[in-house]
Amino acid sequence: MKKIKIGGKLEAPAIAVGCMRLVSLNGKEAEHFIGNAVNSGLNFFDHADIYGRGECERIFSKAVKDLKIPRDKMIIQSKCGIVPGKMYDFSEEHILNSVDGILERLGTDYLDILILHRPDALMEPYEVGEAFYKLEKAGKVRNFGVSNMNSLQIELLQSGLRQRIIADQLQFSPVHAPMISSGIESNMFTDGGTDRNGCIMEYCRINNITIQAWSPYQFGFIKGVYIDNSEYRQLNDTLAEVGEKYGMDKTATVAAWIARHPAEIQIVTGTMNAERLQSISKGVNTRITREEWYKIYISAGHILP
Ligand SMILES: NC(=O)c1ccc[n+]([C@@H]2O[C@H](COP(=O)([O-])OP(=O)(O)OC[C@H]3O[C@@H](n4cnc5c(N)ncnc54)[C@H](OP(=O)(O)O)[C@@H]3O)[C@@H](O)[C@H]2O)c1
Repeated sequence: MKKIKIGGKLEAPAIAVGCMRLVSLNGKEAEHFIGNAVNSGLNFFDHADIYGRGECERIFSKAVKDLKIPRDKMIIQSKCGIVPGKMYDFSEEHILNSVDGILERLGTDYLDILILHRPDALMEPYEVGEAFYKLEKAGKVRNFGVSNMNSLQIELLQSGLRQRIIADQLQFSPVHAPMISSGIESNMFTDGGTDRNGCIMEYCRINNITIQAWSPYQFGFIKGVYIDNSEYRQLNDTLAEVGEKYGMDKTATVAAWIARHPAEIQIVTGTMNAERLQSISKGVNTRITREEWYKIYISAGHILP
């Protein structure tokens, strides 16, 4: 399995196994899925306190306990900061309480990475800094990251922290690629040229922050899968054509497209299907050409000026 260094420091597989949909499995199925992943070298798991209202973390905890997977054989990250339907909350009290809840549900005494899930408009960097300091000092969290943040939000947050932000989890796929199109269409009056995230790709590369690509197979805001979707016929044709050369299915070819980017993006998968996870692994370990990368990008509906 291809490895990357999250934030240039934490060695991890180039695939993070997303656990948002774990709640759709029963206990035995979850055990099978997680056991398979770990045996294939996919030992990085992405959680959030809100997935299944905490149930996903509980299912995971039971499965790894039954499978007797030692804690140090896994890299576990979880997220906090969303109070569903109400607000985003980066207050010290909320962060500290959330982490205690996460650790209890996961049945562990530390997180490898804590991610702040969505930017809180009322964020006070030094208050977050205080929370992070206490969590690190207590040995509850080893590294810190963010999600869905633009570059200046990270910069603002960073100003109140003692630790370096090492990851930003962002939606990314061939069909959801504003962080690519805004660079390619720079300084143009095109839709793709609109900078929606403060040049986050460039910012993360310069600052050694790993981009974790969430919902790599969904279009819109988790609306459905674009693979084999007739609205994305041209993209599907190109994925099939490029994939054929390497013996990959379309799912694997998307993974190869994401992994081809020099930013060393970590893919956060959502599948609960062990075979599909194997396909994605194959894609991550396959290097497509520059021409193929651009062909997939254009087929997804983007322009080259
Ligand atoms: N930071 C954030 O704001 C944020 C937001 C959303 C998600 N996330 C994280 O990102 C992870 C992935 O999100 P996601 O589940 O939306 O990602 P995804 O990988 O784009 O979607 C996975 C879903 O698509 C289905 N699917 C159907 N055909 C597929 C195909 N050919 N290839 C791949 N999947 C196919 C899967 O079903 P099967 O199970 O049958 O394969 C699964 O239900 C989550 O688990 C979570 O950890 C983070």
